[in-house]
This record gives sequence, structure tokens and C-alpha cells, in this order.
Amino acid sequence: MTSALPLPPPPPVAPRPRRRRGLVAVLIAVPLIATVAGGAIWFATNSGRPTPPAAGTVAFVEPLRVPELAPSRVEDGVRVFELEAQTGASALAPQGETPTLGYNGAHLGPTLVAERGERVRVDVSNGLADETTVHWHGMHLPAAMDGGPHTTIAAGESWQPEWTIDQPAASLWYHPHLHGRTREQVDAGLAGMFVVRDDEESALALPRTYGVDDVPLIVQDRSFNVDGSFAGGLGLQFDGVLGDTILVNGTITPYFEATTERVRLRLLNGSSARMYDFTFADGRDFDLIATDGGLLPSPVSSSSVPLSPGERAEIVVAVTPGESVVLRSEAPDPALHAGGAAFDVMELRAAASLTPSPEVPDRLADVPPPDASGAVVERTFVMSGHEINDREMAMDRVDFTATVDTSEVWTVRNENPLPHSFHVHDTQFRVLSVDGAAPPAHLAGFKDTIALEWNREYRLLVRFDDYADPTTPYMYHCHLLWHEDQGMMGQFLVVEPGQAPDLKRPEGDTDDRHDH
Ligand code: C2O
Ligand code: CU
Ligand code: CU
Repeated sequence: MTSALPLPPPPPVAPRPRRRRGLVAVLIAVPLIATVAGGAIWFATNSGRPTPPAAGTVAFVEPLRVPELAPSRVEDGVRVFELEAQTGASALAPQGETPTLGYNGAHLGPTLVAERGERVRVDVSNGLADETTVHWHGMHLPAAMDGGPHTTIAAGESWQPEWTIDQPAASLWYHPHLHGRTREQVDAGLAGMFVVRDDEESALALPRTYGVDDVPLIVQDRSFNVDGSFAGGLGLQFDGVLGDTILVNGTITPYFEATTERVRLRLLNGSSARMYDFTFADGRDFDLIATDGGLLPSPVSSSSVPLSPGERAEIVVAVTPGESVVLRSEAPDPALHAGGAAFDVMELRAAASLTPSPEVPDRLADVPPPDASGAVVERTFVMSGHEINDREMAMDRVDFTATVDTSEVWTVRNENPLPHSFHVHDTQFRVLSVDGAAPPAHLAGFKDTIALEWNREYRLLVRFDDYADPTTPYMYHCHLLWHEDQGMMGQFLVVEPGQAPDLKRPEGDTDDRHDH
């Protein structure tokens, strides 16, 4: 097994000159080399990290872009969406047009909305000059519809995943999952939100007018070259690509004009590596109402909510007429070793007169306490370097097989004093404990992705319902996308009791993959 790490403690954060927007990001990484279990990790000191301008220095001049709602039609009882992955150019930064990728447009993708109980199909076409996949992050669905690295769509080809929405109302998202190249395609702009609604959530007095008082915020950090193109250089960052410019829904220096007394923000950390700790500049409290997999039992009055790449949170914030308040990120919890200092994300500007909003209800959803008594298997996942349990992802290796309609208890540990996270496909898990203690509120609901503090033990209750398939695997991985690409991922099959695994389509087999 993995031995203790001979890593030095992370270096202190050096004071840094203020960087003006528009300057080319120059990556001056000071690499250190550490040997871990025979391998080597390169990582940078904090002073080499691209960092957004310090909090309080940004002028918010661009109206927030709000992704369009994806149109759909109902065909034989199936709600059908169309998504085309496209290349394009986007006016994002003052430097010039940025070559980007998007769905149904030049950058990012529309928001899909579907109801629990609906049968949905997405007609995905690949208009890129390159292969891709589309993964429905957070969705409970058959493995063959999950859009993992085995379900590639060649350039010019299409794919029609179809499934029944069967999970609570939640803010999910979609993005490519090409083995080894997820970061590249997500950072180029392939990402969008998928909002699931249900009767329980719809019956609550919560803001839900899309783009008015219910607003998706896809938060990403990128850097730009002098010609306006995204600077994608990995440099020698341990965690992958960090940017010096924050984009929300593809908008730099965004402001949102609130016209209601309360606004629901669906926060998605769509960044490939950066961790955030969302807060308001004046420290005001807001209501945390939902995490990755849906509503919390009751709103949790909070002044900050941390999100690692891939995680979501829904918050409801109250504003008063005529005021402005900045949504910012504080430095992430030092225990995550994600570095950085506070920076601005977006400004909320309240109109001079606001439409009244109801109070956030005291009760939101039935979220029973997790009960691990029926769990049939225990597994341990040790995250170290770019490996899980001392192994890198192999497309032709199944790491384990789970039985459908059973629960398991997973113990997950990050052995590096460096940022990692843990994401599981198909399921929304529950955090049983963190170092033996009950999880904090933001980890107490349904989750599909969690940040891992160094050397803490996370015990998860993971359930695999409904869908067995001995041939197509689901993935679990670090959601720092460069780590995932480097192989910090594994795959599992969910099978019927006694069914033998029969993994299809090993690495390199690029044919015969659009037939389901
Ligand atoms: Cu957001 Cu395996 O994915
Ligand atoms: Cu996922
Ligand atoms: Cu990682």
C-alpha cells in the first residue's frame, strides 16, 4: 500500500504584486519534486499560481450572461433535447476573440430542464473536428447512457442516450469525459447545467423563475493569451490549470441585476482545478438550500459555502432595494491545500424597487439520516499522487464490481497535503462521517463530489439502484480534471447478483461504439 509521504509542508503564501486584468498570465512555477511510492509528483509553490485580482479591485462592467434554456419537444412520451458540440469564437476578454467550444453555440451550453418521472432523450451530435463524450454529472442513469470515456462520439457522429429521470430535484451538469482529455474540452467551453425538478420542490415557495430569481452560475477560472485565446499551459502546477480571470457563465467582470427581494443562485464550480469558498463581501448570511444531489432538509443559514471542482450548491440570498453586493471567494480552507487569496466573482445589483419574494420555507425536503446498517461491502480508496489505491486508470480494467440495489460503505482518504476530490458516477452518496464526526451541513445532504482534506477519513454510504450492466462501467475519480486525465480514476460495474462482469470495448477500440 501507499507509504507515508516524505513531502515537506506546503510553502507559505508569498506576497504577490497585484496583477491587472488583461495582462498575460506568466506562469513562474517553482517546481519541487517529491517522490511518492516510487513515482514523482511535480507541484508548484503557491507563489507560482495564477491568481485572480485581489478581492475589492474588480470593476463589474458586463451583464451576466444567462445560458439559454434548451428547447425540447415531446415525441412518443419522450422529452427530446438536441445538443451539438461546436467550435466557435467568443468575445470574452478585451484581448480579442477567444477560440472556444460550446453546445448549440460558441461557448458553454444551454440549461436542460426535466421533471422527475419524465423519459428524456438527448440527441447529441458532435460537430467538433475531434471525438468527445457527454457525461451527465450527478445523474442516476444506466451506465450505457452515462457518457463516460467508453462512450465516445467520433467527429461528425451522434449519440442518443435515453433514460428516465428518477431522482430528487437538483442542479446537475453535463460535460465531456474523454479519457485523458476531459480538462482540455471542459476548459475550452464544453459544460452546461441540467436542472431536475420534482413535485416536492415545485410545491415550495422558492424562487424558480429562470434567469430572474433562479440563476445558474457556472464559475470558471481561465487565463488569456495576448491574442485572446485561452492560455492552456499546464506549467508545473500539481493541480492542473489555474486561471487569473474568473468567468461566470462565460462572463468576465459580471454583474447581475436583481429585481426580486430574494435570489436563488445555483452555483457550479465548473473550474478544472480551483477550489472556491463562496461568500459575500459584506459577510451577510444566506440560506444554503441544496447541495449536489438536491435540497437539504431545511435551509442552513451560512456565510460561506466551499465548492471543489464539479460540486454544486444552491443558495438563496436576500437583497435590499438599490444596494450592490459582491459575491466573492475567500481563500479555500487551508486544510485543502488549494492556496490562493480572496477574489471577486460577481456583483449583485438590486433594482431600486424589488418584487416581493416569499420567505424561504423552514422545511425543504425529506432527507432521512443515512443508515449504513444494510451495507453489504466496505471498500477503501486512497488518493495519492495521480493514483487511486496505487493504480492509474486503465480502460480495460474493472476495479471492482458492485451488486445492483445494494449499499456499500466507502472510506476515502487523501494522502497528499495537496488538493484532491472524489466523485462517483450514477449515484448520490451520503457522508457518514469525517474523521468519525458528523459531516458539516454542506456535506450532510446528497452528494456526488466532495473535496478531500489531507489525511482525513471520509466514510461514505454509496448506493447503486436500478441499473445493472455487466459490460459498461461507471467511473469514480478525482474531479481535478487534470488529475482525472492523468489517470486518477477507476471504473466499476454494477451487475445483477451472481452476474459475471464482461467489460467491453477496451482501450484503443474505437469502433462500434454508437450502437446503444
Ligand atoms: Cu463531472 Cu466523471 O465527472
Ligand atoms: Cu460525473
Ligand atoms: Cu486529485
